[in-house]
Amino acid sequence: MIDAHGGTLVNRIVEGKERDALLAAAGTLPTVELDAWALSDVEMIAIGGFSPLQGFMGKADYESVVVNRRLANGLVWTIPVTLAVSKTQAQGLKGDIALTSNGTVVAILHRVEAHTPDKTNEAQHVFRTTDAAHPGVARLQAIGDTYLGGRVSVVNRPKATTFAPYRLDPKDTRALFARRGWRRIVAFQTRNPIHRAHEYIQKCALEICDGMLLHPIIGETKGDDVPAAVRMQCYEALLANYYPKDRVILAVNPASMRYGGPREAIFHALIRKNYGCTHFIVGRDHAGVGKYYGTYDAQKIFDAFTPEEIGITPLNFENMAFCTVCEGMVSSKTCPHPAEKHVSLSGTKVRELLQAGTPPPHEISRPEVAAILVAAMRQNASAAR
Ligand code: ADX
Repeated sequence: MIDAHGGTLVNRIVEGKERDALLAAAGTLPTVELDAWALSDVEMIAIGGFSPLQGFMGKADYESVVVNRRLANGLVWTIPVTLAVSKTQAQGLKGDIALTSNGTVVAILHRVEAHTPDKTNEAQHVFRTTDAAHPGVARLQAIGDTYLGGRVSVVNRPKATTFAPYRLDPKDTRALFARRGWRRIVAFQTRNPIHRAHEYIQKCALEICDGMLLHPIIGETKGDDVPAAVRMQCYEALLANYYPKDRVILAVNPASMRYGGPREAIFHALIRKNYGCTHFIVGRDHAGVGKYYGTYDAQKIFDAFTPEEIGITPLNFENMAFCTVCEGMVSSKTCPHPAEKHVSLSGTKVRELLQAGTPPPHEISRPEVAAILVAAMRQNASAAR
């Protein structure tokens, strides 16, 4: 089985006497209430999805990640994982603090280290832009101006109320892969309803791997992305009708979407390594938004590191389209026909069609998926009326 990033799968969920002691002490600690994003970060840290991180980044790791794309110890890491609070809230915070959700203590943040980030610098390095129209930049501007770093110990993991059968932690997926005897395991990151380009590249990867972890992100996504519940229905319909049952595991990834393009592609790959995957699909404009990144920047960034440093192997795919002459999914690598014969596919395109009230055609979406999306769109429209 592939090692977690940094060598050891982190587990920051404390139990037994240690938990009792921390809970008993928590009552007198200052508290910081977590929003949904921070809560998903705490969960990812605790279950080892963000291994080797044991908590939120302090100043040294944060600055190193922003500028060098590495933790202070040199290990590759491309996205800051930070806990933002307002300057006023940060005043006087020292030692341990309690992190709460709806008033209940979820975790202890140990020996808190507060620092003031240069957010413009962070945006420029991480998102390659300071344009507030970029959702990642907009979020940076909206959150507090002080970051709190420190190791976390989760004492009360919030109970998942959604997608129960699909909640698999890295230790669970690793155990499942071992039980199935899978050695080459490809992971697929997605935040969009599944379309036929997704299906095609997944199946190409399945031809050379033992199995696939279909791993949609269900943390925070930008407002116009299709809600996770609808996307999950689409994945279920597709798996039921078009995939061999014993070669795909569908599980949710609790993390939030950063829209960091190339940097997020590395981050997504390292997370899937932690879940036990050996290969990772990187297609066109992975984790992109608008026109901030080049079509293949998210593939090229892997060349900045050695394969050993990353540890999980990227499987790159060209921009896929449906060719009306070939009658199938193609790319510039496989099809001689001109662009006017191609139906292009993207999550944005599917959303645009739905917003215009048009069901995505069969070249873009399987009919079972199109039906789910149209029903969701109608429900949404009638709820808005
Ligand atoms: S992402 O933000 O999670 O990357 P999305 O769910 O649309 O968005 O994409 C999931 C994966 O499929 C990414 O690796 C992306 O690059 C790839 N992908 C999406 N559409 C295409 C396409 N038409 N051709 C090739 N790869 C694609």
